[in-house]
Amino acid sequence: TDKRGLKDFYQSYFSMGVAVGVKNLVGDEAELIKKQFNSLTAENAMKMGPLQPREGFFYWKDADSIVNFAVKNGIRIRGHNLCWHEQTPNWLFKGKDGKEVTKDVLLQRLKDHITTVVSRYKGKIYAWDVVNEAIDDDPAKFMRDSKWYQICGEDFIVKAFEYAHAADPNAKLYYNDYNTERPEKRERIYKLLKSLKDKGVPVDGVGLQAHWSLQEPTEIELSTAIERYSSLGLKIQFTEVDMSIYPWEKNKRDRKPGESDEFTAELQQKQAEQYAMVFKLFREYKDVITNVTFWNISDRHSWLDEYPVMGRKNYPLLFDTHLQPKKAYWEVINFK
Ligand code: XIL
Repeated sequence: TDKRGLKDFYQSYFSMGVAVGVKNLVGDEAELIKKQFNSLTAENAMKMGPLQPREGFFYWKDADSIVNFAVKNGIRIRGHNLCWHEQTPNWLFKGKDGKEVTKDVLLQRLKDHITTVVSRYKGKIYAWDVVNEAIDDDPAKFMRDSKWYQICGEDFIVKAFEYAHAADPNAKLYYNDYNTERPEKRERIYKLLKSLKDKGVPVDGVGLQAHWSLQEPTEIELSTAIERYSSLGLKIQFTEVDMSIYPWEKNKRDRKPGESDEFTAELQQKQAEQYAMVFKLFREYKDVITNVTFWNISDRHSWLDEYPVMGRKNYPLLFDTHLQPKKAYWEVINFK
């Protein structure tokens, strides 16, 4: 059998990563990680809620296990993430009096969190998703109307990058988001990134989550997005790649009674073609792309299996439920 994995085929292009939990670091999944990947992301363990469940109390065990596994095996680590509207701890937006905190207090909490976390992994984590998903999905709106935004306005974004940069000046700092290839959202993300660059905020790149499907993005949407963001002098990482076999916009109510969840030969072929298309483009843009990371290891388990919008078994990755390479895998390493 071939000893080479994705990381070897893509050695002269960009690093190849995968998102994991502690449970994935043993047995056949650990072997697959070591063979195929040279970058790791914690799927949940480094988010603010899991990491700082009570103010000033940090739960490091899981994050440390992932970092130690990576260091031991010569794998680099992406940090995900420092500031997001989801998976926040319960205490974060409330003061001791039970009332909503002021902007000053919230920014101080953000600073304490970022400084503590980034310092702990200084020199080990080469890139951080500093702010995640701050742009609204509604084209009529700009910023997402999150607690962060309600209390701090846009300042929390600038501050988050400054705190992270101060804690580890060598870490590459990313703004991360999804649906980044859709023209209306792309232009609003571009506007945010441009304003950060114009203000001299230490942002190195943009993370395109890449929770994609057989329908999108199209080749032109993807290449346009890469060119648009990189025109700002930013690097690009595809931080959460998967290729859903169901369209994203349809929720589970659209599933007809009796409709099967089978991963048919036709779907396998379509998925392989979509993967072939996006990786061919990735290779063409290797000068601006510095990492590609898959969100979960194999079709044995994907977050999409439980995600409410989908709510059905999905087959979005390069390895099947037995961890064997799928048709899509062979396309990804077929450099014709
Ligand atoms: C997801 C995890 O995969 C799930 O296990 C968890 O229940 C919810 O979060 N965008 C992101 C990731 O930036 O952090 C999300 O991860 C998936 C969507």
